[in-house]
Parts: sequence; structure tokens; C-alpha cells
Amino acid sequence: MSERIFIGVAWPYANGPLHLGHVAGCYLAADIFARYHRLKGSDVLMVSGSDSHGTPITVRADREGVTPEEILNRYHPQFLETWDKLGISFDLFTSTHTENHEKVVHDLFRVLLERGYLYKKFTLLAYCPDCDRFLPDRYVEGVCPHCGFERARGDQCDNCGRTLDPQDLLQARCVLSGTEPEFRESEHFFLKLSAFQEPLLDWVNQQHHWRPNVLNFTRRFLEGGLKDRAITRDLQWGVPIPLEGYEGKRIYVWFEAVTGYLSAATEWAQRNGSPDGWQDYWKDPNTKSYYFIGKDNIPFHTIIWPAMLMAYGGLNLPYDVPANEFLSLEGRKFSTSENWAVWVHDYLDRYDPDPLRYLLSINMPESGDTDFSWAEFVRRNNDELVATYGNLVHRVLSFTYRNFDGNVPSPGPLGELEQGLLDTARATMEKMDQDLHACHFKAAIAGAFSLAQEANRYLDTRAPWRSIKEDRAEAATTLWCAISVINCLKVLLSPFLPFSSQKLHEFLGFDGRVESGAWDFQAAIDAIEPGKALRQPAPLYTKLDTQVVEEETERLGARVA
Ligand code: MF3
Ligand code: ZN
Repeated sequence: MSERIFIGVAWPYANGPLHLGHVAGCYLAADIFARYHRLKGSDVLMVSGSDSHGTPITVRADREGVTPEEILNRYHPQFLETWDKLGISFDLFTSTHTENHEKVVHDLFRVLLERGYLYKKFTLLAYCPDCDRFLPDRYVEGVCPHCGFERARGDQCDNCGRTLDPQDLLQARCVLSGTEPEFRESEHFFLKLSAFQEPLLDWVNQQHHWRPNVLNFTRRFLEGGLKDRAITRDLQWGVPIPLEGYEGKRIYVWFEAVTGYLSAATEWAQRNGSPDGWQDYWKDPNTKSYYFIGKDNIPFHTIIWPAMLMAYGGLNLPYDVPANEFLSLEGRKFSTSENWAVWVHDYLDRYDPDPLRYLLSINMPESGDTDFSWAEFVRRNNDELVATYGNLVHRVLSFTYRNFDGNVPSPGPLGELEQGLLDTARATMEKMDQDLHACHFKAAIAGAFSLAQEANRYLDTRAPWRSIKEDRAEAATTLWCAISVINCLKVLLSPFLPFSSQKLHEFLGFDGRVESGAWDFQAAIDAIEPGKALRQPAPLYTKLDTQVVEEETERLGARVA
């Protein structure tokens, strides 16, 4: 049965380049999921965009003495290039700095205001007497009242993950001047989150398929009680308030950024020439919406955005929010300011995308934090990608190409070993289907690699390089069987390794894109017709010198971002 799947992926702040932590946090998982579903024949829409507003952008602009827009115009195109080179197959990657987005945010704002879910209130806001300005949340730091973390920010504590208001912080200080802020009155709009405590709890309690970390975090958050939150700020950069008299204020970046999931869908539909096309993804209750995010974004996607959607009405709530945990780098937290990061565009200048996609899949921080190290990258590239899978493909294809005039050999009757291997391939596909459907990416790719190992053992047992001399028919059967399983592996691995799968697709003599195939065991076997012309093969992956480890480790922390 084909499904309709909406995939929203966290919107990266356009205030700096992307590093491996971003990729491991959500982009790779989302892409694997989208590619898998497309092969299954599902109707997929995957969107995201540059998170363009808010203080992360203005801080950077202030530091460089340029406009926020210049920062956005620098990083947004870089993001697009990175997705392209890394194979992250968005249907649309837009930005929150578009007219369409503003229109959608304004509609949401007005509807919520009419329904009484937004209300005005004078509130005390952090004001720095030294800087002579209201301080955005992120400009205030202090001690977290919940966990005692010393460097909690005015919007969130990075240690316990709770969302905060600047007033909640103990020993608050302005990050620019170090001065203790005063709290001055200013009028703002509040989202009546408290009205959603019960509906959200009821809804969350039905989400048995959510990952335990997401479910537990959300439950604990709700049990702590929901407070209404200000959704406007004293700022110049961002989406204006659609009412007169609020010219110096903007809509809070989080309120409008999550709305990007909806505005990106409407923009996609307009660009596609069917302006109502977004409704299939947002109004049909059979559509399942998945939100791929890092764990620091959980409350915005399991509480605030769902509450906004409930308040608006008639739009689908998230079906799943498969948040990943964190990736560290050589045992340390990624840090942009200390340049403790591997920048994706740097990586792609020096290496192929698939080895990175492989490592970050097999080592995805899916149910716990994981670490990236260059030593592991080189080891897994050499021992697994090259030695297990790449070698299987290369020895089978080059041997066949040389000995059978570049064509798929005709098999005789299949023996027990052949039947056994084909059965394993079929079972692997079924198991991976369940794993991918449930967003268990690590288990899925591990399944494909154990099939590759099995195929290597089969080949070693049958040893066609020996049998060819005495029994050409037996060698033909062995090679046909191995090629058929390789064609299966191509399909199974294409969501993870799209570039090398495309190459393999061509070596196997196919034209067109590997993506246009189907997740179908019998079709993968039937496509390997005896006599079919293959193309001259070449190795799919390259062995890396262990010197890479030294070179790359030296780069870490060496330059300024
Ligand atoms: N820019 C935010 C971050 O990087 C993520 C926003 S996800 C969104 O943490 F949906 F809210 F945009
Ligand atoms: Zn805390």
C-alpha cells in the first residue's frame, strides 16, 4: 500500500557553515527515509530551509559589522550547494525570509489572535543599562534554575534542554557587557500554551511509536506544566507583527520558524504549478508527517508546534518526531567558536560523499550519543566499505566482464547454496523494510552489510575463479547469482549510498536513475537477465591512507571558522 509522507527537517540557522553534527543530527536520517519511501512508491514531500531570523543571525551580523541579510545571503547558497553535493534530496529547501513565509505566518498569527490563543500583555523584559537596549533571550546568560547549569541562555538550557525565559535565569548577565540586566516593561503577544496542557498530554499518550527519548522528554516537559509564552520580541530583524502600532517588534524566531514547515509546503505547491497541492500533505489525515530534528529541538516540535497546529485547526499533527541524539568529534563537543568541527563543505572538497554517509549511518546517534573520529572513518571506509561491499562488487563484476564478454552469464539450475543466498537477500529486504519504516537506520544498514558479507562467503565457497576452468556452467550460475544479489544490495543501499549506487546501477548496464527503481526483491532479481550487457566496472570506493587520520586531526581546532 502506498503512503503519503510529509518530511520536515530542522531549519538550520543561516549564521555559519554546516558541520558533521548537523548532518548526523537530522539531515542524513531524513534523506535516507525520503529515498526509501520514494523507492516504496510513497508520495513524499521533504522540505526545510534556512532559519533566517532571530538573534543567531544578528549576533553574527553585529560581530562582522554587516547586515543580517548579508549573512543569510552568504550561507543560504552554501547550504544549497552542500545538500546537492551530499545528496540530501529536498523537494524544497527555502528560507524563512520570503514573502510567502511572511504571509503564512501572518495568517497563523491572525487566526490564533481571533480565537483567543494569542493575547497582549505588558511584561518585564531584560534591558541592559550599559548597552541601552532590550536584550534578546540569547543575549542573556545565567544559571539554569532547573539543573544549575552555569551557562544557560535566556531561551533554553543546553544542559537539561528546558526552555527558559530570561527572568528564570539566576545571576543573569548581558553577554555583550557582562552587566546584570534590568527588567523593563514592554507590551508583547503571548501564546496561550497553558490551554493545551491536557490536549497535548492526551495526544502524546497515544504516540507509542515515538522513540523513548522523545516520548519521555515530552512527557516530563508536560508534567512540569505549560506556561504561556511571549511570541514577540523587541527586535528589528524578523517577521513583522501584522497589526499597527508594533513597528519596533518582531515575531519570535521560534514561532515563525516552525511555521516554515507549512509555508515551505505552500511554496513548493506554487512552484509546482498546483497552488492547492500542499493540502494533500497537510489536510489528508492519512498523510503521515515526520519531523527529523536534533534532540535540542524536541519541545518545539512535540509541544509548541503541535499546540500551534491544534490552535489553528484542520492541519495534521506530527506523526513521528524521530529526534537524534548528539554526535561528538574525537570525544569532544562540536564548537564553532573553537573551530572544533569538521565542516561539511571542507569534507566534500577532499572526499566522496558516500563514505561519510556510510559512517554516519552505521554510527548514527539514534538512541544515544555517538562519536566521529577520523580513525574510525578511515577504518570503516577501508575495512567495510572497500573490503566488504566494494570488493564484493568489484571482484564479481570485473571477473564476469572479463570472462563472459561483458554480459550477464546464463545460470543453470540453482543449487542449495544459491537458493539459500537468495532467500537471505529476500529476508534482508523484508527486515530492512520494517527497520526503515520504523526509522531504525542503524539496524537497516547493518542488515545490508551482513548480506554483503554473506555474499562474500558464498563467493569464496563457490570460487568461480577456479570452477571456470573445469565447469564454466557452474561459474556462470555462481556469477549470475552473485550479480543478482548485488543488484538487490544496490537497491537496499541506495537510500544510504546514493552516489555509488548510481555508479553501480550503470556498471550493471542500466540507464536512468537508480532512484526510479522500486523496493522490490523479485524485480531486482528479474532485472539481471542472462545475456544483458554490463558496462566496464571500476572500484566503487577508494582505500584511504592512514595518514589521513593524522592530517585531518591536525586541522581540528587549527583555523578560525
Ligand atoms: N534553527 C533552529 C536550530 O538550529 C532549528 C529550527 S527548527 C524549526 O536549532 F523548525 F524551528 F525551524
Ligand atoms: Zn538546565
